[in-house]
Amino acid sequence: MKNITVLVSGSGTNLKVLIDSIKEKKIRNGRINLVISSKKDAKALDIAKKENIKTIAISKKDFKSDEEYQEEMFKSLKKENPDLIVLAGFLYILSEKIVKYFKNKIVNIHPSLIPSFCGNGMYGLNVHKAVLEKGVKITGATVHFVNEKADEGPIILQKCIKVKQTDTPEILQTRVKEEVEWKILKKAVNLICLDKVKVINNKTYIKT
Ligand code: GRF
Repeated sequence: MKNITVLVSGSGTNLKVLIDSIKEKKIRNGRINLVISSKKDAKALDIAKKENIKTIAISKKDFKSDEEYQEEMFKSLKKENPDLIVLAGFLYILSEKIVKYFKNKIVNIHPSLIPSFCGNGMYGLNVHKAVLEKGVKITGATVHFVNEKADEGPIILQKCIKVKQTDTPEILQTRVKEEVEWKILKKAVNLICLDKVKVINNKTYIKT
């Protein structure tokens, strides 16, 4: 059984999908042992507590510098020593030390088709605003391993949807979550828990 730690900052809808998928056995061989939030008042924390999952809030505001914050995060993760870390709407970039220590053990869900609309400043509604401003006709989401560069780690799964002329950034954000993110995140986590994802030369290969 793989131990999963989920890192969150916000509403926690992806976390909820992971919790439900484990209950429904759509994710096999995995359990969530810990949820770490970067915000003390994140809705995601309430979701975890309701399910009796251990939670910790490590708020950047409580530390003098980013280094101290990252060190605390590293200590907490190392102590838990999970098999998999899922960034499910986690707002900060993890230090190189953390990423190297947990190489190919950290996955992130990004609300666009990487390598489009990702990198610096591309989070939350900004992504969907940029998609609509550019006028692309398809968008989607990507689950990828986290490496030292933001949004550049090996891609595990992607799925697309058509952009509608009636979409606003808010509508698109909701559609991407419901129609794409929730589906590919649980699928990717299940594949990893079943040891079906291998990384070779910065690309993933999935055992069928
Ligand atoms: C999602 O859009 C995810 O792609 C991004 O952050 C958002 C988190 O949403 N990384 P939620 O907290 O899971 O509802």
